[in-house]
Amino acid sequence: MVAIDGPAGAGKSSVARAVARELGFTYLDSGAMYRAVALAAVRRGVAPAEIAALVHIDLTDGVMLDGEDVSDLIRTPEVSEAASRAAADPTVRSAMVAGQRRLLSSGDWVAEGRDIGTVVAPDAALKVFLSASPEERARRRAAELGAVESEVRAEQAARDERDTTRALSPLYAAPDAVVFDTTGLSLDEVVRQVAELARSRRSPESRGA
Ligand code: CDP
Repeated sequence: MVAIDGPAGAGKSSVARAVARELGFTYLDSGAMYRAVALAAVRRGVAPAEIAALVHIDLTDGVMLDGEDVSDLIRTPEVSEAASRAAADPTVRSAMVAGQRRLLSSGDWVAEGRDIGTVVAPDAALKVFLSASPEERARRRAAELGAVESEVRAEQAARDERDTTRALSPLYAAPDAVVFDTTGLSLDEVVRQVAELARSRRSPESRGA
């Protein structure tokens, strides 16, 4: 189990996906679950807590919300904002964490989010915390979305503030996490270092010794 946490735009998704591919592990995007619940709540005009335990989210092949592919719909700035608000709600968090722990209970995983190493999988063999300067994070995300950098930066700052100060499972680096500042580092370089760390921490049993 490899846990990758960090703020928006630090490179979590790209790094986690590539590391999972390299190790032959399954990739879990926990943020997609908060985004899907937020989208469902916005659409229905209800509080996310009311539906968090009722919606069916499947991440096997894209992001499926009650059977509908919402992979693109959950990436809008509106849903980002709604997801960060929904994620501060204890009812929403406990439903999402329960679902994530169920998934992670068997097999080899690279899971990314805000609280994977601290709450969801505190026993992960490797915990990585990715960060980067606010400017670089906004630049990356703006390029990805084709959005205006200053707007993305303001949106990220608001989310960072909410994610790091919420009472429940705030974003922080687990004390035993390896912290990477990815500012100025290429994706390949970060992936190489994280995959190497993961290999070095494989238990003797899983190495077939
Ligand atoms: O991709 P990005 O880093 O922008 O966000 P995300 O990982 O898709 O997560 C969207 C929102 O869900 C975040 O702003 C957090 O508020 C919340 N989240 C969380 O609270 N816990 C997680 N494990 C994952 C996401």
